[in-house]
Amino acid sequence: MLSFPFSLLALISYVTSMGLPDYIQPCSRNDPNINECALKSARQSIRQFSLGDPSRKLPSLDPSYVAEMTVYIPNENGLKLVFKDNYFYGLSGMELQNLKFDFNKKIITTEALVNLDVTNKYELSGKLMMVPISSHGDSSIKLKKTDLKVKMWYEHVTGPDGKIHWNITKHDIKYELEKAVFRLENLLGDKQIGDQINNLLNELWRDIVADVGPYICRSMTTAVVENLGVFLEQVSYDELFPE
Ligand SMILES: *[C@@H]1O[C@H](CO)[C@@H](O)[C@H](O)[C@H]1NC(C)=O
Repeated sequence: MLSFPFSLLALISYVTSMGLPDYIQPCSRNDPNINECALKSARQSIRQFSLGDPSRKLPSLDPSYVAEMTVYIPNENGLKLVFKDNYFYGLSGMELQNLKFDFNKKIITTEALVNLDVTNKYELSGKLMMVPISSHGDSSIKLKKTDLKVKMWYEHVTGPDGKIHWNITKHDIKYELEKAVFRLENLLGDKQIGDQINNLLNELWRDIVADVGPYICRSMTTAVVENLGVFLEQVSYDELFPE
């Protein structure tokens, strides 16, 4: 007979507030060094946060998934390279460089350095020196020392718990990377041609990244911001930044 009110209670407390998880340290909003406090706290919790937390409905971001990315080399009359089923590994190893809160303008800015390893499948088609080719197989991409600069805008909203929560309304990302390394396996079933095409891709890495970079960044930051959004619905501003 007790189970019904108990589960109702559990439901109410879920809707009301989940509070801060034990892997996140709150920072006082009156701390004159609040950005340092927040950076320290975020550095301590980013791994756990990226690996997900099923009890808070936060999916893992490591790996992150991107269904498809297409590159033309050097343009649509040349080769078409489609990367499918892209799994990005490494977000949980992200090193936060800085984190700043502007409570007046309601802007969060952060910079992070990350090495990403992508495993995927490729489909290559088109013409190579006038000869039509077609090949598919396993592939990988290494994105070395990717420097991400993310800016997020938020607003104050009143949650179902009657408390103030942050709602991220917009985000923007800039990135630079030191180098990308591509590896397509079993190209045309010919090692020599395969090596040549891999070399060509690696010489052109900047152009390829210019094509796929925006895709990657958009997908990954959307995933991160979505998780952050779920988290911010559970945790009020007062819990995150107490007086
Ligand atoms: C949060 O912001 C998004 C994007 O601007 C908006 O669609 C959504 O309705 C907002 N949520 C609340 C609870 O106000």
